[in-house]
Amino acid sequence: MDRGEGLMSEKTLCIIKPDAVKNNFVDQINKMIESKGLSILKSKKTNISSEIAKQFYAEHSEKPFFNELVDFITSGPAVVQILEGDSCITSYRSLMGATNPEEAEEGTIRKKFAESISKNAVHGSDSPESADREIEIMSALF
Ligand code: RTP
Ligand code: MG
Repeated sequence: MDRGEGLMSEKTLCIIKPDAVKNNFVDQINKMIESKGLSILKSKKTNISSEIAKQFYAEHSEKPFFNELVDFITSGPAVVQILEGDSCITSYRSLMGATNPEEAEEGTIRKKFAESISKNAVHGSDSPESADREIEIMSALF
């Protein structure tokens, strides 16, 4: 991929979490993603295993909310997606809104669809390194 000058087309890993899938928000969330000019390259509805969840969230393994996080992401079907577009990582992070929906701005996915800091509707990679790592972990799905 071209990581040279100018606009960079890049990829990011998006998860529509079990709360949003259960509440049938997938289509509305994907419309917001596409309206932002991002493409949904791949999409798969799946039950994330506990092994994959622990690997995926390894950076949080020492946090008090780690078990809750793993239990929640494995609690029901999620939709795992690869998004692509110019500055897609930061662009999708800003569309997601703050981790805590009480702090999320109007017009963001979490403001609209998140129930709480745990049940917060979506995940998005936070850096190019995280995106590469997370896409690799989920690559067996596609
Ligand atoms: P994500 O990884 O899901 O895209 O969210 P994020 O970057 O905005 O937040 P991060 O700091 O990476 O935390 C990962 C997920 O852990 C849950 N969390 N719970 N109870 C708590 O204090 C707490 N803090 C974080 C959230 O569901 C967050 O999305
Ligand atoms: Mg994160």
